[in-house]
Formats: sequence, structure tokens, C-alpha cells
Amino acid sequence: MDKPKVVLGVSGGIAAYKACELLRRLTESGHEVQVVPTASALHFVGEATWAALSGRSAATEVWESVHDVPHVRIGQGADLVVVAPATADMLAKAAHGLADDLLTNTLLTARCPVVFAPAMHTEMWEHPATQENVATLRRRGAVVIEPAVGRLTGKDTGKGRLPDPEEIYEVCRRVLARGTAGPDLSGRHVVISAGGTREPLDPVRFLGNRSSGKQGYALARTAAARGARVTLVAANTALPDPAGVDVVRVGTAVQLRKAVLKAAADADAVVMAAAVADFRPAAYATGKIKKQDGQEPAPVALVRNPDILAEISADRPRSGQVVVGFAAETDDVLANGRAKLRRKGCDLLVVNEVGETKTFGSEENEAVILASDGDETPVPHGPKEALADLVWDQVAPRLA
Ligand code: CTP
Repeated sequence: MDKPKVVLGVSGGIAAYKACELLRRLTESGHEVQVVPTASALHFVGEATWAALSGRSAATEVWESVHDVPHVRIGQGADLVVVAPATADMLAKAAHGLADDLLTNTLLTARCPVVFAPAMHTEMWEHPATQENVATLRRRGAVVIEPAVGRLTGKDTGKGRLPDPEEIYEVCRRVLARGTAGPDLSGRHVVISAGGTREPLDPVRFLGNRSSGKQGYALARTAAARGARVTLVAANTALPDPAGVDVVRVGTAVQLRKAVLKAAADADAVVMAAAVADFRPAAYATGKIKKQDGQEPAPVALVRNPDILAEISADRPRSGQVVVGFAAETDDVLANGRAKLRRKGCDLLVVNEVGETKTFGSEENEAVILASDGDETPVPHGPKEALADLVWDQVAPRLA
């Protein structure tokens, strides 16, 4: 089989040096990469580096090898164009269809999926001009990865950092895997809850569960790769923020409810992958609970937590919203799942079997996706990412 053909566009920002790592990752994993740096990018990283890492000359000029019509050929032949870093100027040119150099020409001739990984100062990213350009590009189906938060050039920190090359690579890999199916969630906002809530007893103890958050994070990464704007409400996870995703961190079920409802107000889909505690201690001891010599411990009284999934399903924060739940069952998995789907009132319920050694914390999952219209889709044992993509395959056609 032919190697997938990737065009790596590099625009002129200091993060260009990180694109070298992305290039290496792409070539090492069997992609044929044509680097197209802009003239400004070449101030940061020279042509020799791009040529050595890609195994072919970098294409820099519309006026070179004109007989070969490079400004059309490169874009037409690509399976994927990824621009990393994409400067504010590059996003503006792409949004407005300007074509004053080889890379912008390539963007106009490409018929394949396009991924932009922006990098710039926070002020430039937040400027309404840039935000409108990003919205335009997303509306047209391009995947614009949300920049990371962290150290910027000079002494600044904030949003605008180029996402980790490995994260950009993962987005590219998933976009390529979808082929012509393309970014079917572009222009959509999805909210995903992940992890497990902790219900405090006192300042040092809590009631919790064994959820790692990996399935919810896989849903977030795959949705971003399919073009969605993603809000991830993460309860007590130890996982790195996925590129291109807005992460809201919470602790308890009550906090999770508040964050999910807030984000859900304009969401097209809500996926409740978090393991939410059904009960919380009735009282919170402000000081550490001490054992008393010769006395039995006092029983812990519990009260019910709100059922967020049932609440959102019954009273959708936005009409036409698709609501997805997860059910972790230890016995009678399918029968319990079907009953839970009816009880909760959601559109889809992903049912999986859990146990001390099953699913929690692992990289893989096996499930059945139950739909309220009676559809049942078994998902064979495989990576959590594969299950996540199948969930989005079910969500996408149900979106209003
Ligand atoms: N969920 C929720 N709020 C809760 C409890 C659960 O939104 N207070 C959501 C979870 O995020 C998940 C789904 O409901 O999407 C199923 O949770 P689960 O705990 O398996 O179901 P329960 O309703 O608790 O049913 P049971 O106790 O019978 O297992």
C-alpha cells in the first residue's frame, strides 16, 4: 500500500522548531511528508533541517520548478495537510483564501482534510479577528486544534502554546484514519464528563471510585480530531490535558453537575462518561475524624447525589441535544443496561462490564452501545479510542 502523503506546512513562529519533532514522528510512522515552510518559517528553522528529516527537499517557492506546477500539485496529491505552527497571520490568510506563497496556494488546492495547530501569544489568539478566522476555518471543516496553555516566548505564560508534537501527531493520525469521512463534528460543541467524583468525609478522606478517566479522555481526543469544540469536565484524573480541548476540573458530583450544566447550555451533545457517586456523606467534618479509644466508629450517613444524566435527559439544556450515558455493570450486563437506558431517558447508553481487573484503568474496553430507538451495536474488545469513535459514529447522525 502507498504511504499516506502528508504536507507539513510550517509558518513563521518560534514553535517551528517543535514541528521538527512532528515531522520525525510522521516519517517514522510510515508517512511520506512534504514540508512546505513559509519564508518566515525559514528564519527559525533552515531548509537543511527539513530536508534531512523528511528525506526530500523542502518546497518553498511557487517560482521553483514552475514546469511542475508545484502550487497545484502539492495540495492536490496530499492525503492530509497539517500546518504547525499556524501563526495568526497564516490563519487569517487561510480563512480569507489569500494565496501569496506556496503554502497558502497549497491550502487552496488541497481537497483532503486540513489540520491547523496554532501557536501565538495569548493576546493574538484571543483577538476577535483571530477567533473569527478560526470559526470560519472550523465551519468549513478544517480541524483547528486549540492551543495549549503554558510558557510562551519570552517571560509570558498563557494560552497560545503549540500543543505537544505527539498530540498533534495523534490528531493527524486519527484524521487520516477517517479518510474521506472527514471531520463530521466540525462546528459542533460537545461536552464530556470523565473520571470519578470524590465525596469528602473530612479534609483528608473521601468516598471515591476506581474510574481513571481514560475512556472520557479518549472521547475528548476523538471528538476534537473530528472537528468538534470539546469541553471536558474532568473529575480527579491524573491524565494530561488533551490538545485542543477545554478542560474544567472538578472534585465532587455537585461540582460536576454545575460544570456540565454550564457547558451544556450551547452543546450539541453531552456524554456522561464520568463515574458519578450516587451518594455523598450527609455531613462533612471540618476537622479530621479521630478514632476514640474503646469506642466503635460512628456509622457514616449518606444522602443521594443528583442524577445528572437523568436530569439532562429529561430537561435538555438545548433542544435537539444528543445525550449519552455510560453504564458500568458487574452482572446481567445487557438486561441491566436496557433497563437503565429507559430509566435514565438518554439517547444512547454505552454498557460495559466492570470488575476489579476489567476496564478500570486499562487502555482497552468492550461494550454494547444501546440506542433508545432499539438499535444495539456490539463493540468488540479494543482500544478505548476505537470505542470512542464508534460512539461518535452513533452520535453524529442523531445531531439536529
Ligand atoms: N450518573 C449521573 N449522576 C449520578 C450517577 C450516575 O449522571 N448521580 C451517570 C453516569 O455518568 C453514567 C450513568 O449515569 O453515564 C450510569 O451511572 P451508573 O452509576 O452506572 O448508574 P446508576 O444510575 O447509579 O444505576 P445503579 O446504581 O443501578 O448501577
